[in-house]
Amino acid sequence: RLKIAVVGGGSTYTPELIDGFARLRDALPLAELVLIDPAADRLELVGGLARRIFAKQGHPGRISWTSDVDAGVDGADAVLLQLRVGGQAARNQDETWPLECGCVGQETTGAGGLAKALRTVPVVLDIAERIRRRNPDAWIVDFTNPVGIVTRALLSHGHKAVGLCNVAIGFQRKFARLLGVAPERVELEHVGLNHLTWERAVRVDGEDVLPRLITEHGAAIAEDLHMPRSLVERLGVVPSYYLRYYYQHDEVVEELRSKPSRAAEVAAIEKQLLEMYGDPSLDEKPELLGKRGGAFYSEAAVALTSALLGDTGDVQIVNTVNNGTLPFLPDDAVIEVPATMGAGGAKPLPVRPLEPLYSGLIANVTAYEHLALEAALKGGRDRIFEALLAHPLIGQIAYADRLTDELIAHNREHLTWL
Ligand code: G6P
Ligand code: MN
Repeated sequence: RLKIAVVGGGSTYTPELIDGFARLRDALPLAELVLIDPAADRLELVGGLARRIFAKQGHPGRISWTSDVDAGVDGADAVLLQLRVGGQAARNQDETWPLECGCVGQETTGAGGLAKALRTVPVVLDIAERIRRRNPDAWIVDFTNPVGIVTRALLSHGHKAVGLCNVAIGFQRKFARLLGVAPERVELEHVGLNHLTWERAVRVDGEDVLPRLITEHGAAIAEDLHMPRSLVERLGVVPSYYLRYYYQHDEVVEELRSKPSRAAEVAAIEKQLLEMYGDPSLDEKPELLGKRGGAFYSEAAVALTSALLGDTGDVQIVNTVNNGTLPFLPDDAVIEVPATMGAGGAKPLPVRPLEPLYSGLIANVTAYEHLALEAALKGGRDRIFEALLAHPLIGQIAYADRLTDELIAHNREHLTWL
């Protein structure tokens, strides 16, 4: 009798997950699903639709919801974390004030990402403690951003956790479509940190087809990334679209300054989605949800959870502890790489030596993540300043000082040490 709890279950993303649980029920035969969220009104809307999706697809699993974390996680075999402290309003701030200093305003990258980490880590650790108290054996699957830092926080506190992002599965599906093969046949040599990754090889039946993909489909690949085709051709690897915030930082800042924030866009989409979810005749995931960034999140989450609970030994791309996999990083860093997944957690596959073009940035951002976690756990203006000074996109005293002040000013209610 498999039970899964979803913290942040009132998210407008939840129908994506429910749709995946319904379609992929053979891989993950759920008996019980609990949605947990402080927003009772959202739970009603999202939970109601979730039940209708299960009913339409003939899924026998029981769906319930609660705002009580302890009650909700009780007896769960796995708990998915997809919460957002402060909602889209807090995200809107993260995306706005860094721009005033000429720095990228983004929910996971740069100063905005640090703000999100500081708000999120204490909340996630509190929830993880509650989960462990009730069910010491339960797996925590973290989709809560910034996934690298949050996963590092969980692992450093001894939790049974794996971090998940949909960037890798997005590439797998995209490349499969371009190649005209089934996605399961496409294996990525994916390496880096969460939201700081490169695809170094794309294997179909053991053969690396990345050079051919770049020659034949370079334009389509580059277009998705909003980066120049010539970059992909010169590097011979495919960076994730988050690398744009580094490789084209100043250009991105100009763009972001001239349009509404992503948080504002998402808030408008969410408003519409919630209205739709309240319609009792809706019994499937609406197309509008495709306008969010979480495509294939459900496939990735189902695959990961079933591998952890079913001890399958499948290879999946996850966030887990380095332990020497990237020899130039500390053992306790959290990296995003292919790993064998089973009841014992994630065991990263060996990684070919990395060129300095990639290892340099990875090492730099890992140092930032270490300092960011210190700041999130211990608080203090100086720790925030140090994390920002260490960040490759900030790095100057004047910027780090100003951004530290802005971060604190915009997050007063969330910083408990103040
Ligand atoms: C991708 C990233 C997620 C991120 C999401 C944002 O899925 O991997 O980490 O949360 O995009 O999408 P949104 O629709 O909220 O902008
Ligand atoms: Mn992600």
